[in-house]
Amino acid sequence: MKVANYRSLLLGCGPRATEHADVYRDIPNMEMVACCDLIEERREEFRETYGIPEGYEDYETALAKVQPDVVHAVTQPARRAWEVECAADAGVKAIVVEKPMAVMPSEIVALDEIQQRTGIEIIVNCQRRYFPPFQDGTIGEIVREKLGDVYFVRASAKGNSMSMGPHMMDLLMLFLDEAQPESVWAMGYDIVDEDYQAWHRSPERLLAEYWFPNDLRVIFDCDADCLGTPGEESFWMHQHYDFLGSKGRLYLTQNKGYWYQTEGMAEPVHGESSWDVFGWGGQRDFTAAVADALDGIRPHLNRFEVGKAVFNALIGAQQSIYEGCRIHYPHTFTDEQWTQLREQMKTDMAARDDSR
Ligand SMILES: NC(=O)c1ccc[n+]([C@@H]2O[C@H](COP(=O)([O-])OP(=O)(O)OC[C@H]3O[C@@H](n4cnc5c(N)ncnc54)[C@H](O)[C@@H]3O)[C@@H](O)[C@H]2O)c1
Repeated sequence: MKVANYRSLLLGCGPRATEHADVYRDIPNMEMVACCDLIEERREEFRETYGIPEGYEDYETALAKVQPDVVHAVTQPARRAWEVECAADAGVKAIVVEKPMAVMPSEIVALDEIQQRTGIEIIVNCQRRYFPPFQDGTIGEIVREKLGDVYFVRASAKGNSMSMGPHMMDLLMLFLDEAQPESVWAMGYDIVDEDYQAWHRSPERLLAEYWFPNDLRVIFDCDADCLGTPGEESFWMHQHYDFLGSKGRLYLTQNKGYWYQTEGMAEPVHGESSWDVFGWGGQRDFTAAVADALDGIRPHLNRFEVGKAVFNALIGAQQSIYEGCRIHYPHTFTDEQWTQLREQMKTDMAARDDSR
């Protein structure tokens, strides 16, 4: 039996949670000691599969009984502030929250307030930062040091801006050395209030132009009809970037590798980037890094400020759609405007359907 420094509780035993739990077998100083789900069958099956000692139906009871150091909130993004505040009140040191960390403007403000008041580490599960070519700086180094002045990026994903958008903006910021956009102009339409999309509430079709420092333009496309990665079927497998610089170009996909070529290179250099190769290890390294952050070894790559910057960049695009013009950061989008935008999109959608 391993003697772990950090005892973890997992909230939400759905499909995504399997990846959170499975990597614990490879992390010596962390142990998953309990899981919690409202659905008994899910919870018990999960407990058995991963050999988790305790199972609970109620989150607050679980926190009180288990007194974990770490919580993984692997739920739909409905009550993030509540999940984090309960954890902080129970003395939890770090909470890993699945993406998206928030969907409405006020939610990020609430999380910020809780984080500052209680000191709990809030870490957003954009684990791709821990895929080796991204974590060790290979891609960032190519972008920053080999392409010359990077003046244009095209980034596209087939999930909406709250489902795949957080991953895509997160990696973009990592590659740009945590640069944040100065302004954005966006258009978008269609709201779907069912199933997965009802939780990941964002225009289903969003095309944004971001202005980053040093005259860098980014065309950012989150749309089921966007240019995807050839040969990929699931919507979450589509994510790719094209970086153009004064001295070269980098093309990166989630699953079909990357290549770059700069002045003076006769042939492009190719590298691996796939989910199949890096997904499991990336989640393990992401999780192990939570313990490292708590031990003061190094800050987590997905710490709260990073997730907050990603969210603010994404929600600013929705403000631009709402206002019909380019907006400058910091955004001033409110929950009321967010709701009006949604209602308007639903009305527009219904009108289009009626006229067909
Ligand atoms: N990072 C990634 O690569 C990645 C990949 C897939 C999904 N996700 C994200 O993971 C999240 C979860 O996805 P999923 O498909 O596993 O969701 P899901 O809805 O299938 O599972 C969530 C589970 O949480 C339980 N739950 C919710 N609130 C609870 C509460 N208060 N108390 C106890 N149990 C509660 C539900 O009963 C459910 O079983 C989503 O936000 C999704 O965007 C991330």
